[in-house]
Amino acid sequence: MKKPQRIQRYSAPERINHWLVAICFVLAAVSGLGFFFPSFNWLMQIMGTPQLARILHPFIGVVMFVAFLLMFFRYWRHNLLERNDILWAKNIHKIAQNEEVGDTGRYNFGQKCVFWAAILSLVLLLLSGVAIWRPWFAGYFSIPLIRLALVVHSVSAVVLIVVIMVHVYAALWVKGTITAMVEGWVSVSWAKRHHPRWYRSLREQQNPPRQHEKGP
Ligand code: HEM
Repeated sequence: MKKPQRIQRYSAPERINHWLVAICFVLAAVSGLGFFFPSFNWLMQIMGTPQLARILHPFIGVVMFVAFLLMFFRYWRHNLLERNDILWAKNIHKIAQNEEVGDTGRYNFGQKCVFWAAILSLVLLLLSGVAIWRPWFAGYFSIPLIRLALVVHSVSAVVLIVVIMVHVYAALWVKGTITAMVEGWVSVSWAKRHHPRWYRSLREQQNPPRQHEKGP
């Protein structure tokens, strides 16, 4: 079978960065669910023992935050909202039927929502997490503030877990996407179909139009 023509979407450091975030997310989410629901207490074993989970969970959270911050600075420009996104959002029923709508750039509206929801919930998780982090920081905060921080921490964790479930579902559901984050490449047909404006901009970078070919 003929191999598809490939385009690089992520470099090795970008992929390592992403999978570090993903591993930290799984560890923090699973141990966090273990702390929160008595029926899930057994999930704390993910770190060996519940005691270890209790100690390591906040450190893993900080590593995830810092690693995501690197992704944030790398991709925020590509995730800014634009006119095309309204069209995409209005036609979400077509997207759900595997049709494409609009002239999508590097990321579509759904991916942009995941991006901004992730940074917002991670900032809230970090701030509230510091306030409830015993024995290091919690002593500096009042009991009502710690109670508020516990609510903020739990709600933002649930939001992030739901958002990442959607993200993983989309990554597996859109055929040809997962290779982007595993091996770094996507096929030309994937790029043309799902991110046509991104594809054209890559082509233009490789073959810039000569002066006399440019428009007025
Ligand atoms: C746990 C399993 C995960 C899988 C299978 C997965 C899969 C993927 C794939 C395939 C892409 C490339 C999409 C594309 O370029 O079109 C991607 C991009 C991305 N992922 Fe994940 N991911 C996972 C976890 C996470 C987590 C936990 C976060 C953040 C908390 C995250 C944040 C991102 C971001 C920010 C991008 C770049 C897209 C953008 O900036 O809008 N991922 N992921």
